[in-house]
Amino acid sequence: MSEAWLRRRIELERMMGVDALIRGPGVEDELGELEQQVKQCTRCRLHETRTQGVCARGRADAPLMFIGEAPGAEEDRQGVPFVGRAGKLLDQMIIAMGLELDEVYITNIIKSRPPQNREPRSDEIEACWPYLERQIELVQPRIICTLGRPASNTVLRNKSSMGELRGRWFSYGDIPVLPTYHPAYLLRSPAQKKSAWEDLKKVVLALSGVQPPPPAAGLF
Ligand code: URA
Repeated sequence: MSEAWLRRRIELERMMGVDALIRGPGVEDELGELEQQVKQCTRCRLHETRTQGVCARGRADAPLMFIGEAPGAEEDRQGVPFVGRAGKLLDQMIIAMGLELDEVYITNIIKSRPPQNREPRSDEIEACWPYLERQIELVQPRIICTLGRPASNTVLRNKSSMGELRGRWFSYGDIPVLPTYHPAYLLRSPAQKKSAWEDLKKVVLALSGVQPPPPAAGLF
């Protein structure tokens, strides 16, 4: 089947309001409140060095949620996730999947920029977890795509390597999760873009319902 066919199928589901039917009112308001809390959050030490907390971008009823690691310098300045170089690549990946930029929901496991973009520490991840947990509860994405090892390990509660995780289906509750490479890694290692694209094609097929992920796939 062609990419155009897949795109039409996803669009059709959206037009039929499938998501809106099963979602109560007020989700956007709740996400808005969450965003205000995140902006001013002081739950961990990172608030001392960051400019502002960075919550999310995208639609409240997005069928697909991308979860990255942490805001970088540009995200910290603008207050929006994935707006730097890695974000531009993520946008290209989304468009290549036949999706509109605003029909996905994009966030991070931690909402404040770590100094010098160091990897988030476990206590920072734990302090920030309730925000991500609530975002998933509210958005109820049909599929989650985790970007890179810290995001994948956090959502899947494991310590596996990207070699073990990438391109395989896992679950968060009853939501299928597909880990793939972080776009910042792909900028450093462009040879891996091919593998990432294989992963994203699985997400497109799953979203379209053509090849749904196996039930309770890869549950640990
Ligand atoms: N990298 C991330 O993981 N998240 C961002 O928001 C930007 C870069």
